[in-house]
Amino acid sequence: MIPVALDRPAAVKLAALPPLALYVHIPWCVRKCPYCDFNSHERAGELPERKYLDALFRDLEGSLPNIWGRRVVSVFIGGGTPSLFSPASIDALLSGVRARLALEPDAEITLEANPGTVEAARFRGFRDAGVNRISIGVQSFDERMLAGLGRIHSGGEAQRGIEAALASFENVNVDLMYGLPGQTAAMARADLEQALGFGVPHLSAYQLTIEPNTVFFSKPPRLPEHDVAADMQLAAEETLRAAGYEHYETSAFAHPGWRCRHNLNYWQFGDYLGIGAGAHGKISFADRVTRHARIKQPGEYMKPNAPAQESVVSAAELPFEFMLNALRLVDGFEAALFSERTGLPLSTVQSRLGEAERKGLLSRDWKRICPTERGRRFLNELLEGFLPDRSAPGSASG
Ligand SMILES: C[S@@+](CC[C@H](N)C(=O)[O-])C[C@H]1O[C@@H](n2cnc3c(N)ncnc32)[C@H](O)[C@@H]1O
Ligand code: SF4
Repeated sequence: MIPVALDRPAAVKLAALPPLALYVHIPWCVRKCPYCDFNSHERAGELPERKYLDALFRDLEGSLPNIWGRRVVSVFIGGGTPSLFSPASIDALLSGVRARLALEPDAEITLEANPGTVEAARFRGFRDAGVNRISIGVQSFDERMLAGLGRIHSGGEAQRGIEAALASFENVNVDLMYGLPGQTAAMARADLEQALGFGVPHLSAYQLTIEPNTVFFSKPPRLPEHDVAADMQLAAEETLRAAGYEHYETSAFAHPGWRCRHNLNYWQFGDYLGIGAGAHGKISFADRVTRHARIKQPGEYMKPNAPAQESVVSAAELPFEFMLNALRLVDGFEAALFSERTGLPLSTVQSRLGEAERKGLLSRDWKRICPTERGRRFLNELLEGFLPDRSAPGSASG
């Protein structure tokens, strides 16, 4: 790793460091989905599991001086499709992580799985390796929707995948997408109801977004009208609330006590070390908050001395970065958290908070700051109010 020189903003002063999580990126998939802009690469033949693990451990060891003495509260093995790795490799990965880092004894350890790549025995193996939460990418149960999304699995495989996950894990998340090409409100509701039938403790419902550098971007499919998609979101919120799920973040719903601790740490602007091809991280120090990113190409990443980028988040950018995460939370955040995590006084954003309040996008009392229903619906407008003032001194990114 060759870090680049760091800038040092003057005003940042953190009284205590935030909780630290670990993200591990596995960058391969069976096939690239036409809507996906994650760093995922179609696998060609056998995966170089051992070589990649060696690179991950090298990466982790290179990062240890930045997180010396800190305990890790959660691990998220994401992708790509991490369930393509054998249980033996996931076991070696988690043993190697534990040998190098102090994990909290009750750390949440999630693995992302794709229904086309898992069967019951694999799930048992992942559990024996120490994984205690599975996030399964179902997207839809409808064959036509799945074909339109270029998924490798059928609706039946999605069902069997969830059943197999639940046979080995209590803590299971199902990812669904809505606003799909050719989808009606009734079809979106049917997907949700089918997912509810499994009683999983956590559900994520994402509106399909068309991202640059995807097949859908160059050949846009016909999507439901904006209002129809917004109604799908409202209907999902209502149905899930009635079924006992708490809506705690834009796209996340959980039974009481089953919120995803790893993702909550992101949304509360906690720290996370990101290892693996294209992984991103955020690490705080007493006087600065830094971001890091690994090289994206798996082949390059696996070479010794693979380059990595590191930069300081300038004091001017920190308020926006904080809000970008924390205002996704339905219950917002405690006012004190802003200073705790950015190292800046709340007065830095007082006038911007007031402006958002006047626009009906935000509500606050002496203790909490919270997006209103309107603020959640027009989240981008709410966030724009916290963009760095480009004319302010020190607003250039470090
Ligand atoms: C990185 S994917 C990993 C999961 C696994 N590879 C899979 O696809 O089943 C995480 C989740 O992001 C969501 N997602 C990916 N691309 C999206 C897009 N363009 N719009 C909305 N949601 C998306 C999907 O629900 C997916 O399950
Ligand atoms: S399987 Fe998941 S990570 Fe892989 S290309 Fe599809 S959406 Fe992206």
